[in-house]
Order: sequence, then structure tokens, then C-alpha cells
Amino acid sequence: MGGVRGSNFRFGQVMNCDIGSDIPRAAAIIRNGGLVGMPTETVYGLAANALDARAVARIFEAKQRPFFDPLIVHVADRHWMPRVVSEFPPLAQRMADRFWPGPLTLVLPRSSGIPDLVTSGLPSVGVRMPRHPLALQLLTQSGLPIAAPSANLFGRISPTTAQHVADQLGDRIDYILDGGSCDVGLESTVLKLDPRPCLLRPGGISLEELEAELGHVDIIPPTDHPSENDSATPQTAPGMLPQHYAPRTPLFLESGISARDSASRPSGRLGGLGFTTVPAGYAYSAQEILSPAGNLVTAAAGFFAALRRLDELSLDAIVAGEFPDQGLGRALNDRLRRAAYR
Ligand code: TXA
Ligand code: MG
Repeated sequence: MGGVRGSNFRFGQVMNCDIGSDIPRAAAIIRNGGLVGMPTETVYGLAANALDARAVARIFEAKQRPFFDPLIVHVADRHWMPRVVSEFPPLAQRMADRFWPGPLTLVLPRSSGIPDLVTSGLPSVGVRMPRHPLALQLLTQSGLPIAAPSANLFGRISPTTAQHVADQLGDRIDYILDGGSCDVGLESTVLKLDPRPCLLRPGGISLEELEAELGHVDIIPPTDHPSENDSATPQTAPGMLPQHYAPRTPLFLESGISARDSASRPSGRLGGLGFTTVPAGYAYSAQEILSPAGNLVTAAAGFFAALRRLDELSLDAIVAGEFPDQGLGRALNDRLRRAAYR
């Protein structure tokens, strides 16, 4: 099947990776140890055979990702779980019954078939069943669990279209499956259940939805310095770096209540990013309002693409407003705080 070529207009390079919807071709690439840009309902993933350490190493190389940041493994069927985890306790099964396929990653004891590189040497592995039909078809046709981080360069804005993947990684992956724009638009929620429920990364399933099933869930803040110590302290989430999801343009987060002093006030050509309105008191050259009607689902779906559009305008700064701290707003605020961290 033919495909269009992903091209990188921004850096003026010629890219050499096809974009299309050829599942058999993508599945053959996965089976042969290659890399595929894979649509999921959350963000696009950079997919490789999770059981093949060499294929997984290519993910780290393509993303320029440090080895201490573990990958999420994707499965198409609950019957595949023994290939990935050594235990699937009843509470985890209940969460899978409720939220899979969908944007919930469960951190569980890893199976011996999962290479150390996938888990950064941790005894646990993050696993989820995505609900995008093309991701499920790719998994089923390759017949393999797939390791896939978000398909962006390490620390940068996550991709929510096939073209976003081509723009950053088109010269170093084998094929991009085009599944349209991601409907959730934010990464999966990462949840650890043992010894007690802990939210390691807020995401597409809200804390309220988790607490409706589990009662109180602890929230683990991003760690400053993920290290080997993380395996000794199971509450921490390796890879939850405080700076992440960042545009190249400096991003300032306005909390609404804390007016900036004039010395630290962003100036020059400014872009505004906000939920129902942009932060007041600035003259913007460009603005992105994510949901004038105040719908957090709509805002999440458009968030990374809006950030990317602003980042492409060579502005001096982006001024972003916080979201309400509830539902998907919590995950959006998490991404904004980490985009703003310098
Ligand atoms: O929505 C998603 O989860 C997307 C799509 C492609 O599925 N994937 C994704 O992967 O966001 P990535 O690599 O960008 O995020 C992986 C994060 C790690 O940084 C870490 O926070 C958490 O998942 N994680 C993975 N394995 C873990 C483990 N064994 N223990 C604790 N946290 C883990
Ligand atoms: Mg990521």
C-alpha cells in the first residue's frame, strides 16, 4: 500500500519514512526488530518488539532517551499477560476489567521474558492495553507485546498526529501508521497498586475515576533525580522528571493568583495558551484557547498540538494558564508544570 512521506519542513531536511495505514507492513517491521510510529488513543508511540532487547535499544537511540526511564509495554489481549508480568493480582485484574482497553498503565511484577532495558532494571513493568483500533491490529498481527514510549525526542512535546512523529523522528524510524489525531491527547495514567494504590503519573484516566474504584489513591510527585534508588523505594516513579513535555520556547505558567513581578515578567513576542481564556494582562502575538466552552476532554485532546503550533512561531515566550485541578485538568496541569520547569 502506498503512503505519503513524512517530511520535516521545520528543519528543512528530507525525511525518508513512509506514513500510511499498511498494518501487515508495520507488523513485519515489528517482527524484524524495527521501529514503527504507532497511533494510540493517548499519544503516538514509538513501537518495537518488547521481547527483543536490540529492538528496544533502537527506541532509546532514536528518542535520545536515558536508560533510567522505563518503557510501557502494550498488549492486545489479557491472555498475553503471562508473557509480560509474573503476577496479575486480583485488584489489578479488576482495574483492567474496568479500564482496558484504555489509557491506564498498571505497574506490576515483570516476567523474566522482559529485557532489563524495558524496565530500566526495575523488578516491575508498566503494561497497558490501548484502545486505538490500529494499535490493537498492529499488536495482533505482529503477535508480540510492544514496548512504546511517546514518539517524541526525549523531554519534548508528545505527538498526537502522524505528522508530529515524522517531524521529530521521521529520519530514524521505519514506518509511521497513520491513525488520525489521538482522541485522549494525554499519556496514560500510571498506577501502582502494591503495597497500596499510588498514582505515579496523572493521565487519561482521572484520579476521581480511580478513587471511585479503589478508595483513596496516593499521589506521587515527580522526582528530581530518578536513580537506582528508585527500585529501593517503590513509591517513586522513575522517569517522572520534573522537566518534560517541553517546547523550545520558554513557557511561563500563570497561576492566576500570583501576579509576576515586573523583572520576571515575560516580554517580547508572546503566545498565550489557556483553557477557556488566555492569562490576562499580556499582549499576545498568537493565542490558543483549548475549550471556550470549558470542556476538559476537548482541552486535553488539543493540548499538545496547540503547544506545538505556538512553539513553531519563534516566539520569545509562551504564557500558559492553569486548568481547574480536577478530572483531566490535573494531568494537564502536570504537563504544564513540567513544560515550564527550567
Ligand atoms: O499513553 C501512554 O502511556 C503512551 C502511549 C504510547 O502508550 N506511552 C508513554 O510512554 O507515555 P512514556 O515512555 O512516554 O512514559 C513511560 C513512563 C515512565 O517515564 C514512567 O513514568 C512510567 O511510564 N513507568 C513505566 N514503567 C514503569 C515502572 N516499572 N515503574 C514505574 N513507572 C513506570
Ligand atoms: Mg513521553
